[in-house]
Formats: sequence, C-alpha cells, structure tokens
Amino acid sequence: MCGIIGYTGKKESAPYLIDGLKALEYRGYDSAGVAVCGADGLRIIKSAGKVAALEIKVKAVSPEGTCGIAHTRWATHGKPTEINSHPHTDCSGEIAVVHNGIIENYLPVKERLEKNGHRFKSETDTEVIAHLLEEKLKNASGDYEKELLKAVAEAAAELSGSYAVAAVWKKAPGTVIGAKKKSPLVAGIGDGENFLGSDVSAFGNHTDKAVYMDDGDIAVIKASGVEIYDKNCAPKKYEISVMEKSGSEAGKNGLEHYMLKEIREQPFTIKSTIESVLADIDSAFGIKTGDLKKIKNIMMVGCGTAYHATATAKYWMEEFTNIPTQAELASEYKYRKAAIPKETLAIFVSQSGETADTVAALEKAKEAGFKTVAICNVYGSTISRISDHTFYTKCGQEISVASTKAFTAQLAALFALSVLIGRAVGFLDEKTEKRLLDELSRIPEAVGEAVKSEGAVKELAERYYRDKSFVFLGRNVNYPIALEGALKLKEITYLQAEGFAAGEIKHGPIALLSVGTPVIALAPGDSLFDKMSNACEEVMARGAEAVAVTDSRGNKALDPKIKNRIVLPDTPEYLAPMVNVVALQLFAYWIARLNGREIDQPRNLAKSVTVE
Ligand code: F6R
Repeated sequence: MCGIIGYTGKKESAPYLIDGLKALEYRGYDSAGVAVCGADGLRIIKSAGKVAALEIKVKAVSPEGTCGIAHTRWATHGKPTEINSHPHTDCSGEIAVVHNGIIENYLPVKERLEKNGHRFKSETDTEVIAHLLEEKLKNASGDYEKELLKAVAEAAAELSGSYAVAAVWKKAPGTVIGAKKKSPLVAGIGDGENFLGSDVSAFGNHTDKAVYMDDGDIAVIKASGVEIYDKNCAPKKYEISVMEKSGSEAGKNGLEHYMLKEIREQPFTIKSTIESVLADIDSAFGIKTGDLKKIKNIMMVGCGTAYHATATAKYWMEEFTNIPTQAELASEYKYRKAAIPKETLAIFVSQSGETADTVAALEKAKEAGFKTVAICNVYGSTISRISDHTFYTKCGQEISVASTKAFTAQLAALFALSVLIGRAVGFLDEKTEKRLLDELSRIPEAVGEAVKSEGAVKELAERYYRDKSFVFLGRNVNYPIALEGALKLKEITYLQAEGFAAGEIKHGPIALLSVGTPVIALAPGDSLFDKMSNACEEVMARGAEAVAVTDSRGNKALDPKIKNRIVLPDTPEYLAPMVNVVALQLFAYWIARLNGREIDQPRNLAKSVTVE
C-alpha cells in the first residue's frame, strides 16, 4: 500500500506529481504529500486526508521546481496525521524521502541515530531513512549524485523489511533516486522527462515505457535518462517494457461510483477473459501438456476476494480432475509448516499481483519446488514476474477498492484451468471438456441478465439498509460466494456480515439470529436445493427473514412464505457462482449507497496490500 511517484524533466513537477498521486490513490488515501526540488531547495507540502486536499494546498503555494517526489499513504506506523505523512526529511531539511513498505528494524536504527544527535519529528518508520541518508552524506563532496547513489546503497544494506523508496537531495537537484526491496517500484521513460512510480499508473498518462526494478536495484532518474544499479552500485542493463493499453476506459461512465461501473462491466470482462483462454487453451496458462499430466496435487493461494475465487475453484478442480486440491489463505500458508506433496501445481490468484502475503506464499512454493502459475490482472506485477507462468485476466484497471470484475474473471480463468487439467490427466473425456467450455462461453450472457437484476436488488436494499447485521448462506460452490457476499457488504458498509456454509448454522451461527435478521440464502434449483430450502425454514422458524437468491427452477419450488427473492437466470450448477455473486455485489453496493458510505474508497482499506 502507499503510492509513490517521482518526476524529473523540464516542466514544473507539481502537476505531474498530483496527477500521479490521483492515479495511485487506490493504494492508500489517508494522507498525502509532495517534495519539490527547486532553485532554493526543497519545498514540502503535506496534508492529512485525500489527494484532493493536498491538491488545494499545492495549487495555493505553486511550488517551483522541475524535479520532485510525492506519496499517498496507507498508515502502518503512526496515525494518519499531517506530521506523519510523507515526504519525511532529515534534520537539515535538505533530503526528502517517500516510502512504501515497513522498515522492520527502524527502532534500533532510530535509537542509534538519536544518540548521534538526529532529531525525529514523526512516529513513522520511514523517517529513519532520511536521517540515515543524512548521516551517510555528511562528509559528501564533489560528485553529489554519485555520493547520493552510494549513500542509498549503504542505507539499504542496513535496513530490513520491505521498501520502495524515492529520495531527492537539495545538493543533487534534478535527480530522483529509488531503491526497492519486496515492494514494487517501476521507472518510466519519457521524452526529456523520466519517472519513478509504485506502478505504471503513476505515469501512464505521460509514457507507455516502463522499467520494472528487481529487489536490490537502485534507480537514478534524471531528465536525460534512467540508470539502474545493483546493490553494489554496479550499473545494470535493463529491459524496457511497453505497456498495453488498458481494456476498459478510465472514468465512471457517468455513474456515481467505479464499483457500480465495474459490476456492470462484468459481462464484457468475463467474455474477454474467456475468449483469451479459449483462443488457445493449451498454451493459455503456459504449462505444457506433459507437465499437466504429471500433476498429483493442486494448491491455490490468494487473499480476501482472490482467496474466495480459489475456494470456489477447489470444487471445480476436485470434480473435474479428481486430484486433491487445497485452497489456501496466503497469510496463513506462508507461516505454516505445510506438507510438500510431490508434483504440486501451485496457482496464485491476485488482481493487483502485488499483495505482499501472496508474494511471500509464492516464494515459499517456489522454494518447495512446486510448478507455479499466476492468475493476475496487472501486467508486469511482482507476482506475474516471479511465477513460472502467468495468465492475465482481461478486466482493464479495477479502481474501486472492493473487487468485483476481477473476481468473476478469476473464476472464469480457474474454471477453464480445471477443465484443462481434467482433460490432460484423462479424468474428463473430450465430449465433456467441450460441453463444459461451451457452458462457460455462455456465462457472459447470464451475467448480463444478472446485472439487470439491479432494480430488484435495490428494492431489497431499501428494505434492509437500516439493519446492522446480515448473514449469508450457501452450500458447495455457493459457500465461498456466501463468504464473498459477506466480505463485500462489510468492507463497503462497515456493517456486521458473516457468511456460512448453510449446513453449519445449526452448529453455532444460528445463535446470531434474532427477529428480522436478514439471511441471504443462495438457493438455486440445483442438487442441493432441498438442503438450502431447509436452511431457510430453520432461520425463519427463529424469526429471521430469509432472502433467496435463486433461479427459475428454485423460484417455483421455494416456500411461498419466502417473499424476498432475487431470481437469476438458470445456469449449470457449477457455474452458478459467477451469476449469483453479481446480485450480492449489487446488494452490498446499494446498502452502502443508501447508508451514504464512501463506496470506492472505504475507510481503513487500500486496493493493493503491499505490506504484511
Ligand atoms: C476485497 C478485496 C480484497 C482483495 C485482497 C487481495 O474486495 O479487494 O480482499 O481481494 O486484498 O488482493 P489482490 O487480488 O490484489 O491480491
């Protein structure tokens, strides 16, 4: 989390920095700041709150200088106050740094620096970097740019944890220097101007050429060019990647929120993703058929919504491949003494491709010798670069913090992968493979119908938006969808919402119910319909209100007492999650909107969680 941008060129830097921060705001939005390096030294402007608040201050001051760095923060150490916002400076105010990550040994480093007379102003871990650079540069003379590079390399060697850092120094005007370890940092190559950013969106309005930095790299960015050095300050050759244009247009299409736009885009993003897989399914995931045939174990890993995609796909993998499959939370997997089954295919699912927990789990899987494949939405992201192969979902940029279109595209990709493996290992015959993929191809149309249920969902939301507690129930493939419905609701409404496997409620969760508690039951007319119907009866017997998310078959068979229903198109049982989740996304959206929440940027959250 936290977004970094650096600019150096011939034009005033402040507008570039603000523009970059706006694009990066999804990474954190509790405070922001800029440091502009001009003829009179550094001009630092900071503000608590969103980038818009900083922009007003910056416009009022109009700091002059063609080089600068800026930051939008998601607080880890210290409250989101102005004083804790980045950039942080050394005692002299000549060095400014911005940082994404966590400096784990900042306390001993700070103590040592304080003993040497450094005075700290903030509660952050980041400030030690500015003072450490000051310490290293105190006797600098001559070639200040080289001295700064050396100081950054020495400081980096003393810091543990994760960091993407950008720094400027009054004595090396026109130079932005960046260092990276376990947090993303990308250089942007423009025409007479160059950039540094947490990701390519920071400078995507100005150039499509990017250099992805590796851990240990140090970048020296000047108007005349970009140089990359290794941790010993030896120059490195680098590759320039040309970024693909995003598949979805920026802007909200006249809608109030990105989340609503992204929910409504799903028929198209799912279709593009399916088309991209089916264009050449044998090579879409990069694993050779010979290797697929050897798979004896499947492990899928993700966090939050991406984890829910893996938990849904576990049902498909087991049904279509007959291979033992685990769905793992990345944050749990990485610290567990997990078994290392032979011939494991490890699948990492992440919209951003930058989630620190998922990156760490991927590194662990690689150490275990597993074959790894990533399903990511962001080209060039850390996860896509570390894993053996990557399939990119075709969603375009997902801007709303609450993930929607990335989730359904992940499901589409995982479904196709499960069929591909099933066929490769000989568990599915050719006819079944074809039928399953045909059914998948028809899903965008069904999702289009589900999107049209918005009016009915909104009416339900109007009925329940004053409630304080919600329960979601599902079974089989719809159990992870119940979890996802609850996650969506809690993250954007701040209301209590829990998802359960419907068969489990009688083992404890039923105690949560009181008269009128809304219980959203995923009850399509499938093989488990009777069980879901029983669950509805049980909750209604306790005075709770069952709300059925069903299809035409379920609609006919449901108890007439269940008046609250969302009727979605009929789909094959295993594909229903992709349709059902749309209704739950819309439900969360409308409850949040009727409660006046900040839907695209909910409190305490950030889109890309790049710290543990
Ligand atoms: C929920 C949400 C998060 C993310 C999770 C993983 O709406 O967005 O739970 O799904 O932080 O993020 P990625 O997919 O970027 O690894």
